Amino acid sequence: MKIGVLTGGGDAPGLNAAIRGVVRRALQGGDEVWGIKEGWLGLLEGLAEPLTHESVSDIHHLGGTILGTSRTNPFKHEGGLVRCRANYEKWGLDALIAIGGDDTLGVAARLCAEGLHCVGIPKTMDNDISGTDYTIGFDTAVSIVMEALDRLTTTAMAHRRVMVVEVMGRHAGWVALIGGMAGGADFILIPEVPVDMNRLCDHLLRRWALGKRYSLVVVSEGVQITTEVDESRLEKDEFGHVLLKERGVGPRVAEEIERRTGLETRVMVLGHLVRGGSPSLNDRLNASRLGVAAVDYVREGRWGYMPAIQGGQVVPVRLADAVGQTKTVDLELYRLAEVFF
Ligand code: F6P
Repeated sequence: MKIGVLTGGGDAPGLNAAIRGVVRRALQGGDEVWGIKEGWLGLLEGLAEPLTHESVSDIHHLGGTILGTSRTNPFKHEGGLVRCRANYEKWGLDALIAIGGDDTLGVAARLCAEGLHCVGIPKTMDNDISGTDYTIGFDTAVSIVMEALDRLTTTAMAHRRVMVVEVMGRHAGWVALIGGMAGGADFILIPEVPVDMNRLCDHLLRRWALGKRYSLVVVSEGVQITTEVDESRLEKDEFGHVLLKERGVGPRVAEEIERRTGLETRVMVLGHLVRGGSPSLNDRLNASRLGVAAVDYVREGRWGYMPAIQGGQVVPVRLADAVGQTKTVDLELYRLAEVFF
């Protein structure tokens, strides 16, 4: 068989380990793999090349993606479906493995409905895809948030300041909540819980009164705060998402804290730092498992499915059931984090 593989959407540590898993499993069974460049753009524009044992050697520890990525939505391009189908047929592909988040997997589901043989692999540092406990890149991202908080704690203590730390997570607060809990955050703001500035500021002042003269506040970029900016003016990608960093949630929360409490406050936007560099142990391992499983699904003809991780096991989940419904944070977990505020 000839299998195409692509990575779409924002990059995440572990993508290369997944690509390596796909190629190694395919070659083991005598199948061939073609790497499609820059996500759906490569399928649209006909950019692909064969992947060999050699081309995926020693890439499991590298961040980014050797295939490149983009936020291209082929259905937003003139004749997109026809062009994708033409390249799929020109290359003689029997199947296509799309590694990506909700947008990329959504396109895979649509192409599958149009008759292309697609299998997905869930990836996003946001960890917000339904049907799977885990997505590639999340484990590394939260480990970096944790380490950053450890470092920011000492400088906050030294200066007796409030540090506001903004982290990615477009629609869900997983990165802020899990990274924040692990790094000892004193307050966490996530999109799933309405922002209560009074409660936050009272909490910080209470800490000061008790002699704890520093605080770490973790803010997810996706939270809504009262002084909203006009989002219609912000840049959007082909899936209609605004660039959230433009909303400047972290700096605005920091300003508001300083204004209300008089406490000296600094802000740090971690941004892409948590998406770059070498993947963690769990991301390497799980991405490898998912890459191997995706090829097994191709061999079984499980079109329109993705291997997901549920309770530590790899299980098949229909793409149509996974996409379009954000897996948001369980509020019980937020209550648990509050124990440590
Ligand atoms: O979708 C993953 C994500 O990392 C979001 O958390 C973030 O809002 C977005 O990508 C940033 O996108 P870009 O890398 O295109 O700026």
